[in-house]
Amino acid sequence: MAKTIGIIAGSLRKESFSKKIGKVLLGMAPSGFTFKMVSLEDLPIYNQDFDDLDKVPESYIIFRKTIKDLDGFIFITPEYNRSVPAVLKNALDIASRPYGENVWGGKAAAIFSNSPGNLSGFGANHHLRQSLVFLNVYAMQQPEVYLANVTTYFDAEGKLLDSKIESFLQQAVDDYIAWFTKLDGTSA
Ligand code: FNR
Repeated sequence: MAKTIGIIAGSLRKESFSKKIGKVLLGMAPSGFTFKMVSLEDLPIYNQDFDDLDKVPESYIIFRKTIKDLDGFIFITPEYNRSVPAVLKNALDIASRPYGENVWGGKAAAIFSNSPGNLSGFGANHHLRQSLVFLNVYAMQQPEVYLANVTTYFDAEGKLLDSKIESFLQQAVDDYIAWFTKLDGTSA
């Protein structure tokens, strides 16, 4: 059966580079896989009372089901103050609860961090890894994917300008699929 991989960009910004990278990745799924963007819009900040007092927002119910139904994830994270943007951490928190109902766990992921600068979101990349350890998500170790100077990647329509970047992204996707397949124990 085809496997579905969620592309999760850690930004709500309309012109987000993370989202633009995600859209490029959508066209890079190999046969046997479907890539789909996961929206982080409309998710209120997590409040444990929602679960404890049985007042779970409709958007949480939909989001938790979306994550549960996915077979794996590619996180494309920008860096906010040397860590992950709150919107991404919030999404991790929402689908990790209520206690004992973490729907991220046991699945293979890759982390593609990016930045307009040279450091490529290294801090965000590794803070995200730390949360994924606790959530029991198997983050690809190698290759690490750091995308520097993202402001130079796209034209006005969001198309990649440089075929070398495209090849790099395709290779990273192929490596993730190999990681996924190894863990999944199936051939795609
Ligand atoms: C940033 N930015 C940033 N960049 C970086 O490389 N390291 C950092 O620690 C930060 N910190 C940071 C904090 C906050 C609050 C903002 C709003 C921005 C810049 C950030 O990388 C840039 O705005 C990206 O374009 C955000 O990603 P998207 O929205 O383009 O995907």
